[in-house]
Amino acid sequence: MNGARIFLGVSGGIAAYKAAALTSTLVQRGAVVDVVMTAEAERFITPLTFSSLTARPVYGSLWDAPERIPHIRLIREAQVALVAPATANLIAKLAAGIADDLLTTALLAARIPCILAAAMNDAMYADPVTQSNIEALRTRGYEFVDPERGFLAERERGVGRLAAEERLVEALERALARKQRWRGKRVAITGGPTREPFDPVRFLSNASTGATAIALAAEAARRGAAVSLLLGPTLLEAPAGVDVVRVTTAQQLYDAALSHAAGADVIIATAAVADWRPAHVSASKLHKTGEGIDVQLAPNPDVLAALGERKGSSFLVGFAAETDDHEVRAREKLRRKHLDAIAVNDVRNERGFGTGENSLVLLWGDDGRRELGTARKDELAARLLDAIEELTACS
Ligand code: CTP
Repeated sequence: MNGARIFLGVSGGIAAYKAAALTSTLVQRGAVVDVVMTAEAERFITPLTFSSLTARPVYGSLWDAPERIPHIRLIREAQVALVAPATANLIAKLAAGIADDLLTTALLAARIPCILAAAMNDAMYADPVTQSNIEALRTRGYEFVDPERGFLAERERGVGRLAAEERLVEALERALARKQRWRGKRVAITGGPTREPFDPVRFLSNASTGATAIALAAEAARRGAAVSLLLGPTLLEAPAGVDVVRVTTAQQLYDAALSHAAGADVIIATAAVADWRPAHVSASKLHKTGEGIDVQLAPNPDVLAALGERKGSSFLVGFAAETDDHEVRAREKLRRKHLDAIAVNDVRNERGFGTGENSLVLLWGDDGRRELGTARKDELAARLLDAIEELTACS
């Protein structure tokens, strides 16, 4: 951890005293730790304990030195943030976007990996509102170190104890190692559907929402990469800290890809590009006549194949949405489009579209294969980037 900059948030639970031992361990391992405490945490343990351990100022209030805007500075200078303990109240505030003290304000402004080590009474932890707040934060990219079962302050046993120090240190080390590997890397991601108009108010499109691309872009940005997201029409929000290029048609995506994606270190094509577009686009709205109409379709350019032809040293990853013979078809696309790897998903009955769970298998080379499993798209994004990390390190 030599020289690693760690932002350590401490919120007001009895486990706050354990954050002092953790701080000492991190400092002994060479980390530079900035501690931010909530007012409630200061009732359990004093700032003096942390400032003595870190030999740095400890921050509590937004108003200590407002001219320095400490919430933005502290979180910008850090490589990773950990909150230990993270109380039910802190988790609820983050889930709702409430920023009413220095810690929540800083975390809301964070563009770095944020790890929350939940610790609270077991009934509070099990309560559906806490669980749904945790779920919401996970989807937004927060990592959780789950509490452990054991003796609680209420003199009962249950799940709610702050995770053991080694687990917290491991989570920090993992986040720092990932940042090391992705720092300075340029990542380009295509995502979402395309729309192919046949008059000013009608178009052909598909069920893609761009959720996979958004999850991948957010995860790559958290790992420290410079990310360009080339995104088709979707109602989903693009992640913060990412350069977003909005496109509508396949042709626009093609043009954007050649200017923004070509030459990136890693290119991931998740876009569900329409393979055809209406050959003739009416300049004015088509009115019904009681008769059917024939729409002639012309082929669209293949964005990924074009990137494959200009691949250079980029690591090029495609997606294959298949309804049958999944892996055989995907391997054929891998070869035909000059890809380094392809992630296969099963889209029978529109599975794989939207923000829910997905299942992916990654294929590469002649017979490389890894099941990334079935999980939420943010979790699958992390697993896919882990796999890319390994494949690029050995190529
Ligand atoms: N792709 C692309 N441009 C296209 C079509 C597909 O960039 N015009 C990319 C997708 O983003 C995906 C990969 O190619 O990464 C495979 O997409 P898929 O729709 O599964 O395959 P197609 O090439 O359309 O082939 P087929 O119609 O035979 O399934």
